[in-house]
Amino acid sequence: MRIVLSCPSSQASPWMELFAAALPDAKLARHEPDRSHNNAERAEYVIAAYRSSTLFAEQPQPKAVFTVSAGVSHVLRDVPQGVPLIRVEDAGMAEQMVRYAIAATMRAALRFDEYARQQRARKWLQHEPRAPQHIVVGVMGLGVIGSAIARALVDEGFAVRGFANSTKTLPGVASFAGGAGWSSYLDGLDVLINVLPATAATRNLLDRQALSRLRDGAHVVNIGRGDVLVEGDLIALLDSGKLGGATLDVFRDEPLPPDHPFWSQPEITITPHVSGLTIPGETVAQIVTKIRALERGESVSGVVDPERGY
Ligand code: GLV
Repeated sequence: MRIVLSCPSSQASPWMELFAAALPDAKLARHEPDRSHNNAERAEYVIAAYRSSTLFAEQPQPKAVFTVSAGVSHVLRDVPQGVPLIRVEDAGMAEQMVRYAIAATMRAALRFDEYARQQRARKWLQHEPRAPQHIVVGVMGLGVIGSAIARALVDEGFAVRGFANSTKTLPGVASFAGGAGWSSYLDGLDVLINVLPATAATRNLLDRQALSRLRDGAHVVNIGRGDVLVEGDLIALLDSGKLGGATLDVFRDEPLPPDHPFWSQPEITITPHVSGLTIPGETVAQIVTKIRALERGESVSGVVDPERGY
């Protein structure tokens, strides 16, 4: 079996080593993104860790393409029609993203945004603490990761809402879906956590109109994809004081350009796309398990629906 990994040489060695150890009989090759490899041999499986403009001209008909991320927007449009694209499902990411989401929610719950504002004004003023059951937290996206976050928030005692394509049954979570459910879901949220991927349906979903429905002083957390949030609208609502703060891990442009206005916005906490890092060992184990299943003619989970985009 031949496997090609699309990955720059500087990033490749842990992946090549892990795949070689897990599949000792496979022939592994590396594709340098955006380079042409003359006479590249055809591979049964392609691991598209990085986007490459030349990859699928060389590999037009693999049995399947895998990403090493939960998000697939970097390759979705390039994968040849009819070839299954398979994304990472959790593999250690959910647990990390739960911790990140809880930390950002606690920041809002403990009024750190307000105290940061007060600090800038050298103002000493105590506020009543708010009990978690009076703090309404909305999770957008209730797949493996979003559901884990919603469950953890329920365990912490928060009032939790969830929004997804269809209504989901999760204990303690008020579930919303669809156009009409969207406004009721947003109305009065104290904390909004986006876990949604970038798709045609989610792009610009969090615009001024949507964000204006949140409670005054609300906090926005984005750990899904940057395309979901209209950046200028967020800045305007923070400037006007309608929103209290934001914790952002994903951006339209990554790395976030040095002249981006987010850097100097005191109400925004920026992290460099670290809320759910891929764990190479667990990810390779998951991909290899799926390759073995496909080789036995079995179906696997995590296959992306090209229409939905996740
Ligand atoms: C990270 O953003 C991922 O998609 O895995």
